[in-house]
Amino acid sequence: MLPSEINLSPIFSGDNSFRFFVAVKKRFCYNAIQFKERSQIFVRSLEGQDVQKEATPLAKKVIHTTINGEAHTHEVEPRMLLIHYIRDVVGLTGSHIGCETSLCGACTVSVNGQAVKSCTMLAVQADGAEITTIEGLAQNGDLHPIQEGFWERHGLQCGFCTPGMIMAAHQLLARNSNPTEEEIRHGLEGNLCRCTGYQHIVEAVQYAAGKMQG
Ligand code: FES
Ligand code: FES
Repeated sequence: MLPSEINLSPIFSGDNSFRFFVAVKKRFCYNAIQFKERSQIFVRSLEGQDVQKEATPLAKKVIHTTINGEAHTHEVEPRMLLIHYIRDVVGLTGSHIGCETSLCGACTVSVNGQAVKSCTMLAVQADGAEITTIEGLAQNGDLHPIQEGFWERHGLQCGFCTPGMIMAAHQLLARNSNPTEEEIRHGLEGNLCRCTGYQHIVEAVQYAAGKMQG
């Protein structure tokens, strides 16, 4: 939807010559407005005629990351989210984008050993960080025990939430190698699944905990 199709009167008021609408974040207006180009600013005149102007490009910054043991150096815009950096710049698309508002957990990765919803963090904040994504868990072709648990205990249906669930479970088991069912449910409560009803996910993590303890 373009700005010309949106009634901005509830948002803007006053008798200035121009009313300005700046698309700074996608979250603005709860993602109700989708712009074709993120780098453009739309200016709405009093006559209701839209004028489109190029925004001044943001200066890019060089960041260095280590992702799944591999060093990366890239120039990124300061406003780029970490999930977009991982998926669009580095090319690791295993981490998913669900809500982009920190609710669903589909984008969860490990940053310096902490499970992070990577839509809540800027890529420039990850400069110098050690990042692990879902692609980094399997070793030499062998599934990580948590991945194996999801396979063996049918912890997924559509699989959309699964990378984030597994990365959250990875942190959970690193902190507590023998969690109770309640602790597993608590540990994963930041990750949403619309398919499984969660029971199989809990069983998958229990399977992994048992396997990791030997
Ligand atoms: S996409 Fe990051 S929490 Fe939903
Ligand atoms: S398996 Fe479909 S959202 Fe979780």
